[in-house]
Amino acid sequence: MHLTYLGHSCMLVETSGSKILIDPFISGNTLAKHIDPATVEADLVLLTHGHGDHVLDAEAILKRTGATLFSNYEIVTWYGKKGIDKGVGMNIGGATTVGQLRIKYVNAIHSSELPDGSYGGNPGGFVVSGPEGAFHHAGDTALTMDMQLLKRHALKFACLPIGDHFTMGVDDAVEAAQLMGVKTVVGMHYNTFPPITIDTEQAKATFAKAGLTLLLPAIGERITI
Ligand code: NI
Ligand code: MN
Repeated sequence: MHLTYLGHSCMLVETSGSKILIDPFISGNTLAKHIDPATVEADLVLLTHGHGDHVLDAEAILKRTGATLFSNYEIVTWYGKKGIDKGVGMNIGGATTVGQLRIKYVNAIHSSELPDGSYGGNPGGFVVSGPEGAFHHAGDTALTMDMQLLKRHALKFACLPIGDHFTMGVDDAVEAAQLMGVKTVVGMHYNTFPPITIDTEQAKATFAKAGLTLLLPAIGERITI
């Protein structure tokens, strides 16, 4: 699998011939000024919840690429009213098959409201499974015992928030990885705004001390994972 970090919680994962774009927030991210959202490719767009720092560029990217949207029912319905009719509205615990991939919407402890104040359903994360293995994108979440349930997916890696304040911080993310049984974590939701600024070297050291690897790719960097 290949993963390109596009800043904040936005990941582009390439697996089994599909480009999966998760939580596109690029044009509003001052740290991602060198990324042009108009050049981002996607076959599938996954939105974990309705907050602007996860959905800002979704509409434009969905319309330009013709990608299929996966999110909760309320968010997919909201985008449907904007003319995006290729959407799969799910709910917590449900999975759907697209090509060789299985996409499951799993629990997150957070909130969800769309940019215009509309109800954004329950927030979630995703487990994407395919021939190349499975990965998790947690969206915005607190540490929760439900993460133990993800062990069964034998995750190759997990994208976890580490910025604290609005989500888990580093210490809780280490515990989350342990509950999930995952050794490799891609950190997200940090440094974008002042309240979520962290010491990245200290974060890596905290993960290493627990026998885990914290990957913090540069914004725009594509890694093999
Ligand atoms: Ni949020
Ligand atoms: Mn957020």
